Amino acid sequence: AKPDLVKGEASYTAVCVACHAADGNSTIAANPKLAQQHPEYLVKQLQEFKSGKRANPVMQGMASLLSDDDMRNVSAWLASKPAKPGFAKDKDLVALGERIYRGGIADRNIAACAGCHSPNGAGIPAQYPRLSGQHAEYTVQQLTSFRDGKRGNSLPMSQVAAKMNDREIKAVADYIAGL
Ligand code: HEM
Ligand code: HEM
Repeated sequence: AKPDLVKGEASYTAVCVACHAADGNSTIAANPKLAQQHPEYLVKQLQEFKSGKRANPVMQGMASLLSDDDMRNVSAWLASKPAKPGFAKDKDLVALGERIYRGGIADRNIAACAGCHSPNGAGIPAQYPRLSGQHAEYTVQQLTSFRDGKRGNSLPMSQVAAKMNDREIKAVADYIAGL
């Protein structure tokens, strides 16, 4: 059956709105923007929060309240909301961030982000998430978690992040915020 956007909106506004904002474009740097994200990617994350594969106590609690149908409905509703752009803050780092995003770091075998997340950061449905406009603080947190094995649910991302230092992570996250 097709996902039910009305039900999706209802469960979103009952709970999720508190942290991810009414239109899915969270204004709190630690909480990701979810609007216009690929619905399959959102469902995958909710399932992995619920099972504990992606460890986060807050989101585990939230995802535990949702059935498979609830997840499909809320994800379809979020995917239908337009993403709001963000901006890069650090003029000195953003050029490094752009180089990494577009070309990777060849001498350390770090693949270009653009190859999987697309040149404009819109991602590639269904498995490669949209990144553009995301809060840099959230992106830094995720890349650090991939690197440290705390978000161990993605082989490509663990390999990409394993070889990046803090400065490179900060640079690419800042570039993505304005992408
Ligand atoms: C992350 C959905 C409620 C705080 C996420 C992600 C999704 C999501 C899909 C992962 C996004 C990504 O990978 O890009 C939802 C839904 C909710 C809900 C559908 C309601 C049922 C909440 C609430 C809070 C919250 C109420 C705050 C109390 C967070 C935080 C993260 C997150 C901090 C980042 C977790 C991490 O670092 O791994 N949420 N959320 N969410 N959400 Fe929610
Ligand atoms: C997820 C950044 C390169 C495949 C993510 C996320 C971030 C990210 C921040 C989590 C998004 C969120 O939580 O909303 C980057 C950066 C890259 C890069 C900065 C370059 C340095 C790549 C490459 C691939 C890839 C080259 C493919 C070979 C994926 C996949 C996911 C993901 C499949 C989803 C993981 C999951 O389902 O949990 N990426 N990425 N990324 N990325 Fe990348």
